[in-house]
Amino acid sequence: MSQATARAHSNIALIKYWGKRAGPRNLPAVGSISVTLDALYTDTTVVFDDTLSADCAQLDDKPADTARLTPFLDLVRTRAGIDTRASIVSANNFPTGAGLASSASGFAALSLAATRAAGLELDARELSILSRQGSGSAARSIFGGFAEMHRGTRDDGSDAFAEPMLEPEDWPVEIVVAITDTATKSVNSSIGMSHLDERSDYYQAWIDHSESDLAAMRDAIAARDFETVGALTEMSCLKLHGLMMSTRPGLIYWNPATVAAMQAVRSLREAGTPVYFTIDAGPQVKALCAPGYGEAVARSLEGVPGVLETRRTALGPAARVIA
Ligand code: DP6
Repeated sequence: MSQATARAHSNIALIKYWGKRAGPRNLPAVGSISVTLDALYTDTTVVFDDTLSADCAQLDDKPADTARLTPFLDLVRTRAGIDTRASIVSANNFPTGAGLASSASGFAALSLAATRAAGLELDARELSILSRQGSGSAARSIFGGFAEMHRGTRDDGSDAFAEPMLEPEDWPVEIVVAITDTATKSVNSSIGMSHLDERSDYYQAWIDHSESDLAAMRDAIAARDFETVGALTEMSCLKLHGLMMSTRPGLIYWNPATVAAMQAVRSLREAGTPVYFTIDAGPQVKALCAPGYGEAVARSLEGVPGVLETRRTALGPAARVIA
């Protein structure tokens, strides 16, 4: 029996990933840029156990489906040259599957825990490549601070990995998550973004502008230009949701409180607070705040009708082994 426990933090994309290239290995159609969140994380323990006849998993104290986990563990087993089944115990300190990037922190933590338990020592890039095969956004959660995921061009996925851009202390922006619904989302990202070339008339435009959006964001982050980073973040979010709504069948992840929180962010900004919103495949609004503004933004968003709770967070560290 061999085991390891790892912690990985959730991340939120400022320039969004949505769409996959054809073929295996979960290759993204576009690159993305994200921030890793200190206050939202997953702890995962993997035990390779000779007495098990099948993989088993527990998520937040409940039995979990292994359909997406066994093929992922097979990648680790093949690499380690073992055949042993595993038991996975995982816990999120935030609502699972509700657009708070639990698949990002989950697969990043699983990659690190499973490889260590299997006796492998992968470097961060290799871990990012492995995590991507579990969930595209997980490739970014291997790193702390600001990270960029490269789309890559190779079919084997060896150039589709994330890289660190800035450490949390290099630019301590804050994030406030306004939770408007804690239920598991109806259409998960993988399904929502499948076969977009056939399902959305806007998809080619999304792809065509991706490289210039990424380049603009890279420059704005390097210059610590908060207004430009924020404007690009809102633009990428709204473009993503336009693409989602244009998909057959149309995807609408927002509820009335989502829209109210977006409007509240814009009102705060008009009144002089440096804050911009972003939203993923769920109804939660994430407010990107300039350093020092998180508390005031959280207080305002708590007063928005339909906002159930807020979580305020600094930027978080890279994935790491904790036991
Ligand atoms: C809207 O990484 O969950 O959060 O690769 O199919 O697991 P899969 O998708 P996933 O998609 C994330 C989509 C997003 C945007 C982003 O995080 O970049």
